[in-house]
Amino acid sequence: MKTYLIIFGSTGNLMYKKLLPAISSLIKKKLFPDDLHILAVARRDCTLEDYLEEAKEQATAEVDWEEISKRIDYFKMDINNVEHYQELAKKVGYKDTLKMIYLAVPPKLISPIAKGIYEGGLVKKGNIDERIVFEKPFGEDLQSAKEINQMLWSYFDEKQIYRIDHYLGKEMIQNILTVRFANRLFQESWSNHAIESVTLIAKESEGVLSRAAYYDKVGAIKDMVQSHLMQMAALIAMEDPISLNANDIRDQKVDAIKHLSFDQNYILGQYDGYLSAEGVEKNSHTETLFFGRAFIQTKRFEGVPFYFLTGKKLGEKCSEIIIKFKRGDYQDKLFASKEIPNNKLIIKIAPEDGIEFQMNTKSPGLDSFIEKASLDYCHACRAVGNLPEAYEKLLLDLYKGQTTLFARWDEIETAWKKVSEIDKKKGNMFNYQSYQDVKDKVNQDFKEDIL
Ligand SMILES: NC(=O)c1ccc[n+]([C@@H]2O[C@H](COP(=O)([O-])OP(=O)(O)OC[C@H]3O[C@@H](n4cnc5c(N)ncnc54)[C@H](OP(=O)(O)O)[C@@H]3O)[C@@H](O)[C@H]2O)c1
Repeated sequence: MKTYLIIFGSTGNLMYKKLLPAISSLIKKKLFPDDLHILAVARRDCTLEDYLEEAKEQATAEVDWEEISKRIDYFKMDINNVEHYQELAKKVGYKDTLKMIYLAVPPKLISPIAKGIYEGGLVKKGNIDERIVFEKPFGEDLQSAKEINQMLWSYFDEKQIYRIDHYLGKEMIQNILTVRFANRLFQESWSNHAIESVTLIAKESEGVLSRAAYYDKVGAIKDMVQSHLMQMAALIAMEDPISLNANDIRDQKVDAIKHLSFDQNYILGQYDGYLSAEGVEKNSHTETLFFGRAFIQTKRFEGVPFYFLTGKKLGEKCSEIIIKFKRGDYQDKLFASKEIPNNKLIIKIAPEDGIEFQMNTKSPGLDSFIEKASLDYCHACRAVGNLPEAYEKLLLDLYKGQTTLFARWDEIETAWKKVSEIDKKKGNMFNYQSYQDVKDKVNQDFKEDIL
């Protein structure tokens, strides 16, 4: 069987910065077949040599250009011309071919390309060896996501559709299930009996940079909460799956998100200088910061606040999940005169990959103070070579037809429903200059030390 990886939008940032390095690494590790053909599809009039020159200039991660050059072809086409899709289908062949078609294009192109792929005969509905990957964001809101999905279902079977949320490909996101279910200590304390709060964080150090025009129409809630943070919440809040099969895990994740609701007490912010960024509307009300609290109405998590924090210009790039455990009555009684810090489990997703468990010990020496001690595990340090990038894992799963790390339609639909319940008019927009401003605001508004 021949294997084709066909990438629409091959002259874009995603292709140069993420996909080519990931493909190169998979070839090097011999995880892709030797006869892999890569078709770089785009609208520019250029030769393969020109294309590779540009790719080399734009790439920032390691790529073995010699190996890529052996397998790649450039295909120029007009995405609105069905004859071009027919030509592409002919080039690839109709039989005994595994086709992985990746749409690395802006969301507005999903519809014409999906139609062209189907009408041009590149993909037949129901053939699970013909797979199509759709990038985040999937829709602009619940209604548009539904429309896109209906359109996709008219051309393809759900089993052929791979919706990417690259966070799911990150090593420590995949590790959440192992930490939860392979450790009795955590499995047995994973409920409101022992957990006081969960804080989901995705902070960025940069502002909008060159994405201003896109970002200003979207904002932090749609850009980050609907996708990445909601996925993180689902993995923490889900009930035990009956197996580790893709659908059993996704069933439980959807069920967890269905039980989630934000309370209408949240903070929206805009970083100082956002309004003067090129591409941002003068009087824009787009939030570059969101802090909110949600509750999961299940027996397991009833009463446990899930805090969501995401934003730009927050001093550092950092994604992590903090699970704060309750102090027990017995401990408080036994150590009555002493301050006992809460145990915390911190799952570090980026830029570090690791886990920290904060526990309490006696201070060393003759004193007997209680001290916080940290068991800090660096997951990346143990990897031979570098840990695979999220896109590497996702491309490999695409090739193998494994769907666990791709979002099913009901996950996306439920996440859109939940963020659409956030009434932005009720949020009090504030201007921040630093993360400290955000911390002060959150702790003051919520009357406790959350951050
Ligand atoms: N970049 C990332 O790291 C990243 C991360 C997560 C998700 N994503 C998602 O991935 C998708 C692509 O992102 P990107 O950063 O690669 O975007 P990009 O740099 O803007 O590239 C988009 C690609 O689409 C092509 N394109 C745009 N309009 C077209 C049209 N009318 N007809 C034909 N081709 C057209 C561009 O061709 P030209 O070069 O000819 O304009 C380019 O090849 C987006 O949905 C984005 O949200 C990207």
